[in-house]
Amino acid sequence: MTEITLNTLAVKTAATLYDVHELLRKRWSARAFADKPVETDTLQSLFEAASWAPSSVNEQPWRYAYALRGTEAFDALLNCLQPSNAVWAKNAAVLIFSMADTRFKAFEQTNRHALHDTGAANTLLLLQAASCDIYGHEIGGYNREETRALLDLPDYIEDVCFIALGYLDDAEKLEEPYRTREVTPRTRKDLTQFTQML
Ligand SMILES: Cc1cc2nc3c(=O)[nH]c(=O)nc-3n(C[C@H](O)[C@H](O)[C@H](O)COP(=O)(O)O)c2cc1C
Repeated sequence: MTEITLNTLAVKTAATLYDVHELLRKRWSARAFADKPVETDTLQSLFEAASWAPSSVNEQPWRYAYALRGTEAFDALLNCLQPSNAVWAKNAAVLIFSMADTRFKAFEQTNRHALHDTGAANTLLLLQAASCDIYGHEIGGYNREETRALLDLPDYIEDVCFIALGYLDDAEKLEEPYRTREVTPRTRKDLTQFTQML
């Protein structure tokens, strides 16, 4: 890793008031991806991590479609992204599309927790990735109609987001404004803004 990348990591590591696990401090949404593939077993370990998320009635509603850089499928997924995301996501080693099956197998009703559970799975995927020095970036800026048509999604599959991931490269390889964002510290609301003791 170059000194520039090491500096980026130092800047992006969460500065927390209270002690949290190192992995949580380490994960962040990167945009500068190295020209290095993610090994098959490593990629599978990310999906395995996702599969261990908790879910309502253990329904495990998350679904993933993915493509490796250099394939036609990758380019097809990339084309669905808004240009402001495609400009950096094109360098990702893997593009993943996250979806939620909104059907409940157990009950004949809609699984209202499907999106929640899929988000939980995505977070585990990203944390497992960070543990392998792979950085993922969730993306909600994409053309929904095009993506749904590309993947031929039925109504009961909710599209959730893309995840671009790969090993890190220097922020220098990005154009502005992404270069600056890549070296800007992350911030969070104060705990008092979203918690309330009853
Ligand atoms: C569902 C979702 C959609 C997002 N969409 C985009 C996006 O379209 N473009 C982008 O650059 N970042 C996107 N992000 C990344 C967020 O901007 C990022 O998570 C947030 O700024 C916090 O930064 P951190 O993940 O580095 O802590 C998205 C994140 C999530 C969870």
